[in-house]
Amino acid sequence: MPAGGFSVSAPSGVEFEAKITPIVIISCIMAATGGLMFGYDVGISGGVTSMDDFLGKFFPTVLKKKNEDKESNYCKYDNQGLQLFTSSLYLAGLTATFFASYTTRRLGRRLTMLIAGVFFIVGVIFNGAAQNLAMLIVGRILLGCGVGFANQAVPLFLSEIAPTRIRGGLNILFQLNVTIGILFANLVNYGTSKITPWGWRLSLSLAGIPAVLLTLGALFVTDTPNSLIERGRLDEGKAVLKKIRGTDNVEPEFNEIVEASRIAQEVKHPFRNLLQRRNRPQLVIAVLLQIFQQFTGINAIMFYAPVLFNTLGFKNDASLYSAVITGAVNVLSTLVSVYSVDRVGRRMLLLEAGVQMFLSQVAIAVVLGIKVTDHSDDLGHGWAIMVVVMVCTFVSSFAWSWGPLGWLIPSETFPLETRSAGQSVTVCVNLLFTFVIAQAFLSMLCHLKYAIFVFFSAWVLVMSVFVLFFLPETKNIPIEEMTERVWKQHWFWKRYMEDDNHHIVNGKINNGASV
Ligand code: BGC
Repeated sequence: MPAGGFSVSAPSGVEFEAKITPIVIISCIMAATGGLMFGYDVGISGGVTSMDDFLGKFFPTVLKKKNEDKESNYCKYDNQGLQLFTSSLYLAGLTATFFASYTTRRLGRRLTMLIAGVFFIVGVIFNGAAQNLAMLIVGRILLGCGVGFANQAVPLFLSEIAPTRIRGGLNILFQLNVTIGILFANLVNYGTSKITPWGWRLSLSLAGIPAVLLTLGALFVTDTPNSLIERGRLDEGKAVLKKIRGTDNVEPEFNEIVEASRIAQEVKHPFRNLLQRRNRPQLVIAVLLQIFQQFTGINAIMFYAPVLFNTLGFKNDASLYSAVITGAVNVLSTLVSVYSVDRVGRRMLLLEAGVQMFLSQVAIAVVLGIKVTDHSDDLGHGWAIMVVVMVCTFVSSFAWSWGPLGWLIPSETFPLETRSAGQSVTVCVNLLFTFVIAQAFLSMLCHLKYAIFVFFSAWVLVMSVFVLFFLPETKNIPIEEMTERVWKQHWFWKRYMEDDNHHIVNGKINNGASV
């Protein structure tokens, strides 16, 4: 998942002395609440927007369309306001990332998480108590600010506090918690949809649980040594390092953090630096991976599964129930990725998933094309099960490939000098395209009908070809050796490395110039 700022890693082959201390365990719980919060926000809107009580209060025209026979099945939910309810969160989130990148650096990771927690709590209050559309949207915007701050600070906090040997696993753990948050939201919606007329209020208010946990967590944990040292608080940084590593022997790691933070401070214009030719491969790959991740169409399912199943003629209950099934498949398949990413490698997972996603989407398009016309949506039991199975096959392949890897690959390919700026760009581009899908999907469904799935499958084809030719394998390669062992060896990207008279050797900028 997203991270920003600098995280320091051991030079290749060196493992610093570190125990898994209670503080590290508390950090894992923090990761859980930050990820859960994001996932809950992703998963909750679709179920709520399919509830009649909610539609009646905020979107009466949609409710009318939904219950009328004269509207095309595919267009029942096509409403800009309804889409704005979902998408406003991501627009706010991407704006907040710019501020979050500043606060993580200047005020520290802990304070940034606290800011996120406060935004979340106020956002939840607005949403749970909403009397009109304005309150609802203001609530979503505040939650979005929380996401912007949390998604920048929490993963960074984790990667800095974790011992090197479990850092990769923790990275995917964050994504795992996102999927658990989505599933939790689906389950809550399933339960609250039966409580009329205020079930939707309960759905939106229960986000308060992870929000309060994140805030309390941020109050009690200590800031990372890296952040303290970066802000000149060296003694405090060393004391914290001893405490979290459970040993007094921290001198080597301490010295490396001090050195890395000195180098980090030499980079005067991180964003300008990112645009230099020698950083092109990582930048192009990070940006494209985010666009591709969103154009798999995953969030059409994550945001709108209940609405989509409803469109296909499922009753409200069956729609929410089916969303729970896809949510559960999402969680379980993410576990596959945790296990296999360092064994079979990134490329293998992405390419296999490409084939699986393509076939499932084409199958969905064919069934919908034949069975769901503008005014007849009687799929029949057998075909309905087939669609749910195909959606699950699609979601599972996403969950062990583009889901976690879309975040992991950028975080492991940027060299230290561009890591902060590179990750901010990654988070921003991701949220931008998440916004685009959230805002456009229901209108696209109305205009393209079943062909919407052909549209996404074409993108899957394009991204798989990109992976085949342009994405190098980064499995088991230490971050500091990427330039030598990956980019300089790649048939296409090596041309960007040729004029490489200014590169990083073991974490030091070679020509000493400030960039
Ligand atoms: C994506 C989210 C998506 C989630 C689904 C994440 O990696 O960035 O947009 O909702 O996966 O599990």
